[in-house]
Amino acid sequence: MKGMIFTEFMEMVEATWSQDMVDTLIARSQVPSGGAYTSVGTYPHEEIIALVAALSQETGVAAPSLIRTFGRHLFSRFALGYPRFLQGMTCTLQFLAGIENVIHAEVRKLYPDAELPTFEVEQAPGSLTLTYFSDHPFADLAHGLIEGCIAHFGENIEVLREAIADLPGAQARFTLTRKD
Ligand code: HEM
Repeated sequence: MKGMIFTEFMEMVEATWSQDMVDTLIARSQVPSGGAYTSVGTYPHEEIIALVAALSQETGVAAPSLIRTFGRHLFSRFALGYPRFLQGMTCTLQFLAGIENVIHAEVRKLYPDAELPTFEVEQAPGSLTLTYFSDHPFADLAHGLIEGCIAHFGENIEVLREAIADLPGAQARFTLTRKD
């Protein structure tokens, strides 16, 4: 997993809790990298899971909720770090319709070693369905990123999340419906 995901996570922990909390998570999770993440490095995705588990133990907040909160935060950081992806985008549904063929396709060009998920996209007037496929257990991260995107555009959009049992590799389906 790209280092920027780790550095953003650590920055969120420091801003929300403290630098001491960052140090505690590294010590408690015993991550093989020792927690010295750089944004250009690449690290096992299991490390972020271990860090979130440690944060959950320290704070009493459930891990899925922490990952989802991180997803919302991460979207605001992506919006600052990759402004050109949002250029000309006027709404959530327009932006997210391009998650697979535009956004992550561009990310793959920038970082050929990125381990990106796959989204199956279905569009309908006033709504969008994203089906999340990945080898990684990050449906909560996707959920938070979607919510962060909606907050970015300041829209009133309902997100319905369903677990998927019958489609190999698919973990969740998000149906977004515009409410205004
Ligand atoms: C400007 C917007 C975005 C950028 C620049 C971006 C970029 C990235 C990058 C660099 C990674 C890490 C890949 C790796 O670690 O190897 C990633 C992973 C991921 N992205 Fe995006 N992304 C964006 C928007 C979104 C949105 C809106 C969603 C949700 C619909 C999303 C869902 C995910 C998920 C779930 C992962 C974790 C990897 C996995 O599940 O297998 N991303 N993205």
